[in-house]
Amino acid sequence: MRILITGGAGFIGSQLALFLQDKNEILIIDKMRGKESFENGNLQCLGHFKNLLEFKGELFIGDILDEKTLRIMREFKPEVIFHQAAISDTTANNQNQILNVNLNSFKDLIKLSIELNAKLIYASSASVYGDAKSPQSVGFGEKPKNVYAFSKLMMENLATKFYDKAHLVGLRYFNVYGKGEFFKGKTSSMILQFAHQILSAKAPRLFEGSDKIYRDFVYIKDVINANLAALNAKSGVYNVGSGVARTFKEVADILQKELGTNYSYEIIPNPYKNAYQYHTQAKLEQNFAYTPQFSLEEGIKDYLSEIKRLFEEESKAHV
Ligand SMILES: NC(=O)c1ccc[n+]([C@@H]2O[C@H](COP(=O)([O-])OP(=O)(O)OC[C@H]3O[C@@H](n4cnc5c(N)ncnc54)[C@H](O)[C@@H]3O)[C@@H](O)[C@H]2O)c1
Repeated sequence: MRILITGGAGFIGSQLALFLQDKNEILIIDKMRGKESFENGNLQCLGHFKNLLEFKGELFIGDILDEKTLRIMREFKPEVIFHQAAISDTTANNQNQILNVNLNSFKDLIKLSIELNAKLIYASSASVYGDAKSPQSVGFGEKPKNVYAFSKLMMENLATKFYDKAHLVGLRYFNVYGKGEFFKGKTSSMILQFAHQILSAKAPRLFEGSDKIYRDFVYIKDVINANLAALNAKSGVYNVGSGVARTFKEVADILQKELGTNYSYEIIPNPYKNAYQYHTQAKLEQNFAYTPQFSLEEGIKDYLSEIKRLFEEESKAHV
């Protein structure tokens, strides 16, 4: 198949590209990182060339908001579009910019998928649930707590208007972790961040109350399988989690066990406490042929050699 992956130099997009490249023709579109940061100090664009060192397909550097990028995408004539490009930082708060990048670009992609009769599988997020009661189900109690989450909910709403014209599947990823996330820096998963604190012989830093803050952590290999399942799903929106909620404290405990340490924890105030989700857990729906294969323990075990490699080879030279 001819597959277009937007945001393909980022975490999830790059892993999808590497997984699919042997049997498919792939075009990646990504803006790539520059020097611009948000007010919170995080980089605006996180795409990194090192995520694509083993990529053999075509890479085009462009902004999904630009006409020229749209033209390149159209000329490629994709049969499938995996849309991962976004401002993925849940703590950024520039409403104009986040909605412009995440939402406005999406309408162009929907039009393109209709024009080319291409399936469009796009990344949404469990952040849309806010504090909705767990386990969380599509259509029940969504209430975004930040502009990022709002942008994803608006994308989903927009997609519903075109279900009769195109194959449009939104995937609400929960907390994804695994290979490819290192260059997200402070926005990478706490699995990677705690592990690197431990490997630096430092006590893991937990937000206060971390034994009561629950997340559904989902491994990257399961997320790839969910994207493949979406190719044969009905147009709609589906949860992509593990189906199980675990606390941040449990994450740190599992890592300490795997790494053979027994540090006590440093407890720090939670600077995001007003816009934070305290309990996410995916309800896995019968109408979506996706079954997660990795528990948190299994995902961490599978990831551990890469975590160690990153610590040795990258964390000191992180650019
Ligand atoms: N990682 C998670 O836990 C998680 C959870 C929920 C949803 N998501 C969503 O999944 C998708 C992929 O997330 P990720 O973790 O790989 O994030 P990421 O930031 O690593 O990847 C996003 C990519 O999009 C690129 N990009 C940003 N703006 C662009 C623009 N205007 N034009 C072209 N490219 C642009 C970035 O350079 C980056 O490579 C995003 O849509 C994100 O919102 C991720």
